[in-house]
Amino acid sequence: MSGFTIRRVRPQDLDACHALEACCFPPAEAASRESIATRIARFPEAFLVAEAGGAVVGHVNCGATRKDDITDEAFKALVGHDPAGPNLVVFSLATAPDWRGRGVAAALMARLVAEARARGRGRVLLLCKEHLKDFYRGLGFADGGPSASAHGGAAWREMRLDLG
Ligand SMILES: CC(C)(COP(=O)(O)OP(=O)(O)OC[C@H]1O[C@@H](n2cnc3c(N)ncnc32)[C@H](O)[C@@H]1OP(=O)(O)O)[C@@H](O)C(=O)NCCC(=O)NCCS
Repeated sequence: MSGFTIRRVRPQDLDACHALEACCFPPAEAASRESIATRIARFPEAFLVAEAGGAVVGHVNCGATRKDDITDEAFKALVGHDPAGPNLVVFSLATAPDWRGRGVAAALMARLVAEARARGRGRVLLLCKEHLKDFYRGLGFADGGPSASAHGGAAWREMRLDLG
């Protein structure tokens, strides 16, 4: 890791995280400002940012659940979020375009996974597009096959990391 640090999100990061989300995902997939605000307020434990020169250059945010079905759209606004749930579900992982390829996403995920393990969570789950399957495999995730989700009109795969 060089030139950036990983830290927990703060309420004042809302605009920067919303801007990052909007620049990194197509409109149908980007979380709304309201959803980002809800995630910061209700589950900062699993919302990390990468900061460089005082700017947010990456983030990862999650919800927690006891369920194995992670295709529920309302969950992304933390409807049904259970902070004590064993499954951590990653909603978005994003690195600002200028910062890609420098280990920002890998560092965010490494910290997220280390903290989840330390807190006794069981698994980290996420949905990703086909072309990012190998990216998540490189971070230690197993490919759980195609997902039933049709979020944003795209095809998704389920990825999982058992923390055991
Ligand atoms: C996907 C994304 C988060 C990667 O961020 P990043 O900070 O550039 O990733 P890193 O530099 O930490 O890369 C980690 C590893 O994954 C590899 N990698 C990065 N992007 C990749 C891609 N698109 N496909 C396959 N491997 C990739 C890197 O080469 C690196 O491997 P290495 O450790 O062997 O060198 C970033 O491209 C992004 O924000 N994309 C738009 C939003 C998005 O699609 N997010 C994922 C949602 S499911």
